[in-house]
Amino acid sequence: MKIAIMGYGTIGSGVAAVVEENRESISRKVGEPLEVKYVLDLREFPGDPIQEKIVHDVDVIMNDPEVAIVVETMGGVEPARTFVKKALSAGKSVATSNKELVAKCGTELLDLAKENQVSFLFEASVGGGIPIIRPLNQCLTADEIMEITGILNGTTNYMLTKMDKEGMTFDAVLKEAQEKGYAEKNPSADIDGFDACRKIAILSSLAYGSQVDYEDIYTEGITKITDTDFKYANKMGTSIKLFGTSRRVGEQFYAMVAPVMIDSSHPLYAVNDVFNGIMVEGNMVDKLMFYGRGAGSLPTASAVVADVIEEAKNLHTTLLTSWSTKKLALADMGTYSR
Ligand code: HSE
Repeated sequence: MKIAIMGYGTIGSGVAAVVEENRESISRKVGEPLEVKYVLDLREFPGDPIQEKIVHDVDVIMNDPEVAIVVETMGGVEPARTFVKKALSAGKSVATSNKELVAKCGTELLDLAKENQVSFLFEASVGGGIPIIRPLNQCLTADEIMEITGILNGTTNYMLTKMDKEGMTFDAVLKEAQEKGYAEKNPSADIDGFDACRKIAILSSLAYGSQVDYEDIYTEGITKITDTDFKYANKMGTSIKLFGTSRRVGEQFYAMVAPVMIDSSHPLYAVNDVFNGIMVEGNMVDKLMFYGRGAGSLPTASAVVADVIEEAKNLHTTLLTSWSTKKLALADMGTYSR
């Protein structure tokens, strides 16, 4: 089974590493060896064994019938959208970690996958290595999902934790998070809350079965949080976290991204550093909690490769069907109370 990786950054290189490191067990699960045939990147990697797989022309991948699955880890909407559309139209399944792409073009790409009897999977787009897309789409389908509340951005959670526990400044800790490969290329996506906003939009679309546009979601990041806020929070025995929340309100829904103060009785209080925590409430199953590394090369790549394995086991099948394009109305913020 041959795959191609588009984008050899933090996640793309993680995907190659996971495929290499767990080669034997992955082959056993797929039923044949899984091999990275091409890596699409504009750069050269002299001295790195990956160099022999590097291609600069996406059509080399698209025109090779041996490539059954394409991994998209480029980030951003374009050219990722164009390349993913090419792959799906060429009858190749796609696995992506790109939440911007899924939040903006998910409906279009899921429909295109269905048309071509292939899959478009995006487990890694929310919560890094945490399984959340498949649980929502497979294990929780008997429920009406009533609420999703999560710490959905590893970078800002890392920053808030360091500011809280070590008194670090905003700028110093942002630099550290970037060096560790947690942050987006443009850190505004993290610190202004847009990344968490895209993630809660994706989860809401899956949970409610209707398209939720991220532009509709009230979004506030952490740029206004100061050490003085933490001094007050600590005095009150609380901590400050960036929450993404979405709640069904009758036939409408309410969603927002904003920093909140929580005390130690809250289940998300102990979610620190780069970890993400996601609480899901179903009307039958009650409350569930998902926890794990929300960012980073190998945890995120683990989720991408799990999608690849599912696709490899189910070639020419559409594993994830689209949500309805009928938009749910946004409830007034005043109707949201806890
Ligand atoms: N920048 C993102 C985060 C990466 O920090 O959560 C994972 O989506």
